[in-house]
Amino acid sequence: MRIDVLTLFPDMFAGIMNESIIGRAQQNDILKINPINFRDYSKDKHRKVDDYPYGGGSGMVLMNQPIFDALEDITKDRNNYRVIYLTPKGKTFNQEMAKSLSKETHLIFICGHYEGLDQRIIDTWVTDEISIGDYVLTGGELPAMVIIDSIARLIPGVLNKNESFIDESFFNGLLEYPHYTRPADYKSLTVPEVLLSGNHKMIEKWRIKESIKLTIERRPDLINKLLERNDISYKKKEEFKKIIKEIIIENNT
Ligand code: ADE
Repeated sequence: MRIDVLTLFPDMFAGIMNESIIGRAQQNDILKINPINFRDYSKDKHRKVDDYPYGGGSGMVLMNQPIFDALEDITKDRNNYRVIYLTPKGKTFNQEMAKSLSKETHLIFICGHYEGLDQRIIDTWVTDEISIGDYVLTGGELPAMVIIDSIARLIPGVLNKNESFIDESFFNGLLEYPHYTRPADYKSLTVPEVLLSGNHKMIEKWRIKESIKLTIERRPDLINKLLERNDISYKKKEEFKKIIKEIIIENNT
């Protein structure tokens, strides 16, 4: 996958995107992240990229010319791409969106600053306006990196076997169960007995139950979503409801 990032701060990407799993994916040519300083496209003699808003008010607006020219240049021999603008006004990012974006071959991110982009850039070029949450950051660079990281790990070949969490139908959509590693007793802090039993059926049941417990406690909204999904069989859903009942009974006793 090729990812172009239009930004005024390309150096922000060097550290984070060249390390660890994302760095390795780039070295293995599975992924190419290409930060582009759109100031380099400015035709202004002072390399200006922003201007005062029409209608007055505070803040500056990113101008059409440098960003239009950068986008025309990047896409001149291509027609299969999505242009993502990072903005608090966008649709809130989630795992489904990460999955959808991970299937593309070319993504272009635009990192806004100040009051954002001239609306004509959005109307002409942008296919997706995305926010990473209900808070305001100083620019789109960190959101772009968050999104790139979550997309990259879904591209086949990026994670190795030990790094991937099995995207098994039951766990997908629930919060993760707790994990433990050796030793079984650390400063008298012990590991749940079932995990040491070697009984894989019981371990699986324990994990599902712990996942459901945590999801009910922290994200009850996800439980209904899971029950509405049509990629999970009726039988699995009944099993799931039975576990919820067990949890409710346990909590009431
Ligand atoms: N730019 C500033 N804040 C943002 C956010 N929460 N999501 C995406 N882009 C942003």
